[in-house]
This record gives sequence, C-alpha cells and structure tokens, in this order.
Amino acid sequence: MSACRVCGSPIYAFMTFGRMPIANGFLTPKEIPQEHFFELAPAFCDACHMFQLIEQPAPEKMFHGSYAFYSSTSNYMQRHFAEFAGDVMAGVLAGRKDPFVVELGSNDGIMLRHFKNAGIRHLGIEPSQNVADVARTRGINTISEFFAKDLASKVLALHGHADAVLAANVMCHIPDLPAVAEGVRALLKPDGVLIFEDPYLGDMLEKTSYDQIYDEHVFVFSATSVANAFARHGLELIDVIPQKTHGGSMRYVLAPMGSHRASPKVEIRLRWERFWGLDAPTAYQRFKQRCEISRERLMDVLTDLRKRKKRVVGYGATSKSTTVMNYCGMDSSHIEFISDTTPIKHGKLTPGTHIPVRPYEEFVKEYPHYAVLFAWNHGAEIRAKEAAFIASGGKWIHFVPEVKVAA
Ligand code: TYD
Ligand code: ZN
Repeated sequence: MSACRVCGSPIYAFMTFGRMPIANGFLTPKEIPQEHFFELAPAFCDACHMFQLIEQPAPEKMFHGSYAFYSSTSNYMQRHFAEFAGDVMAGVLAGRKDPFVVELGSNDGIMLRHFKNAGIRHLGIEPSQNVADVARTRGINTISEFFAKDLASKVLALHGHADAVLAANVMCHIPDLPAVAEGVRALLKPDGVLIFEDPYLGDMLEKTSYDQIYDEHVFVFSATSVANAFARHGLELIDVIPQKTHGGSMRYVLAPMGSHRASPKVEIRLRWERFWGLDAPTAYQRFKQRCEISRERLMDVLTDLRKRKKRVVGYGATSKSTTVMNYCGMDSSHIEFISDTTPIKHGKLTPGTHIPVRPYEEFVKEYPHYAVLFAWNHGAEIRAKEAAFIASGGKWIHFVPEVKVAA
C-alpha cells in the first residue's frame, strides 16, 4: 500500500485510468517508440483527506525546455490574471512599503507583468526554460529552478522576505508539497500571505470532470485538504474564493498561524465539503462509476458518427484531453485531427492516441460536422467565437458535466 504524500498515512486507491502518456507530451511520429507511459491512478487519504496520484512521472519528463503550455494563449486567462494581480495589489499589498512578490510557476509572466508594470519588486520562479525565456524578454525577473527550501533560502538572501507568495495552477503540480510549504513559510514575512489557486475537487466531483486528473495534477485540492496540509507547516487557511477558471477552481489564502483573522467563509466551505462527503471514500466510489458511464456514452456517440461517416474533429489539444482520449480509447478513426491555436503543438501527434494536431485555420477552412469540445473550460469564449461553425450546421460534442451533442 502506498503512503500519503502529505501525511504518510496509507492511501485508498479507488480506481485506475490505465497506462497514460505525459499529458502535454505532444510528439512527432519519430518519437513514438520512446513515448513514456505510467499508471494513472488517483487515491484518497483517509487521514488528511488529500486527493492525489499514486504514481507521477519525474518532473523533468513534464516540465522542460519544450513545455508546450503557454499561459497567455487565452484572452479569458489574460483578463483573469489581470484581475488576480489587481486584487493582490489592492488587498494584501495596499499600504505596504516597497513590497516584494514572488510567484511560483510564473510561466510566460502572464500575472507578474502587472506587478512589473506597477513598479513592484517581483520574482518569478519557473523551471520550464522556454516559457521563462519569454517572461525574461518581457522584462520580468525570472529564475529557472524548482522551488523548495534551498531555493527559498537563496531568494531570502538576495531579496529578503516576501509580502506575498503567489501561485496559479502550480501548487497542485508539485509532488513534495511539504517541502514547498516549508519553503514558503521560511520566505514569508510574519504578516505575509500565500495565495494560490488550482482546480477544485468539489467542482471535479460535481461535474465528473475526470480530465482534471493527469500527470501534472498530482493533487486535486479541497479546502479541507489544503487546511490540513499547510497547518503542518504553521500556515493557516484564512480565506477561500471560488474561481470560474479551469472548469472550477478555488483560490486559497494562507498566512502564518495567528497572524490574520480567518474569514467565516473558510468554516462554511469546510462544512460544505463535509456535507458532500469529500472527506469519505463513498464520494470517490461514486465518482468512479460516473467516469465509467461518461466513457461509455461518449464512445457510443463517436462510434455511431464513425459508422455514419461524419467528420469529427477535436477542439483544443488540452492536457486534460489526454486523459479523456486515452481512457476512452479514441483514435484517428474517431477524430480526424485536433484544432489548436498553439504553434508549438502544430504538426505533432496527441500523446498516446497519436491524433494529428493542426492549426485552427484548418478547422475554419472546411468545418467538420461535429467538434468535440476538449477545451470545455473555455466554452463560453469558444462558443461566442464559433457562431459560423454552428451556422454551417456544425454541432458540439460535450462531455462535461454530461455527454451531450448540441448546436
Ligand atoms: P487549457 O485550457 O489551459 O487546458 P489544459 O490545462 O488542459 O491544457 O488549454 C487550452 C488549449 O486549447 C490550448 O492548447 C489552446 C487551445 N485553445 C484553442 O485552440 N482555441 C481557443 O479558442 C482556446 C480558448 C484555446
Ligand atoms: Zn494524508
């Protein structure tokens, strides 16, 4: 039996998605023989209630010089991070003298650029060299290393304590969460705050959005598991703020124990999570059954369309879609190609299923009959943009929260 990555207790493995490739591992045909696979199986800790992966590929296999994820591709995410930065400046940083902000996993600088523009001392920590380079060319101070206590000491020596440590869609990527919590605790001022957001377990269970489960997401957090994990390192959960991003996320605010008064929203959220059974195995057994039903329905739709010789393409070569395509058993007989706006993905094949990824222009050139909305978390933005696809008679295939074909 495996041990919890946070508290060391035995964890409860309730399902497996089978052998999976690296979710962002888009590849060329030549690279197929070397493709890396691992067992994607989530587990639940009955002691600290952390939802986690049992096995995770080495970080170097996921985050490297050609990491195919650039945060700044979506307009919605651009707006989201402008607001996030605005909230931090108007909130925790208000009235502070010469504040210092550190962001973990700062990607191409989508959030830090707002601090830079406001003349605020900032530092991005981004291990993926290619995206970090983009940030640096934009004048954002960035170092390319993985964060833990050692690096925290180095940052401390160079820049002093931080008023705020921020992270968006990063904390859930880091397998040694205790080491990060330890590093953050050391880096923060006595009245500093840690603010991070990640996909929320409550939304994932509610929407059966099992595609949140992939190699990079070693944890899917709840307020309960975050409060437990960080309390072990002297950090207290003082606020929770639900977000619409990534199909339902939660922003967590933490501070050195006793330094801030916790918002009543924290206790309300913890009670809500107990009410929905997020702290007990039954919720996860039911989730497994819903995943199986979703897979069956989605493949029924795709098999029927293949029989009727309809053209089906995928919309958005997301990391999430790697879990869906591999778990459901899709291949290029179901999906002709995946349309995506990210140049680095063009001409590549999807991980594991080897479906071609093509530029968005190919989708527009000759609309297919159906498009699987893999980037469902950007659904509103995409539907608004794709009126011509619908006008041409095209239909969307949705699978979150339920499998549904709709104009
Ligand atoms: P994202 O939502 O970040 O999902 P994940 O974290 O699962 O990778 O990725 C969105 C992907 O979809 C990205 O590759 C860009 C692509 N995309 C489009 O092709 N067209 C669009 O209109 C949008 C919003 C995204
Ligand atoms: Zn645990």
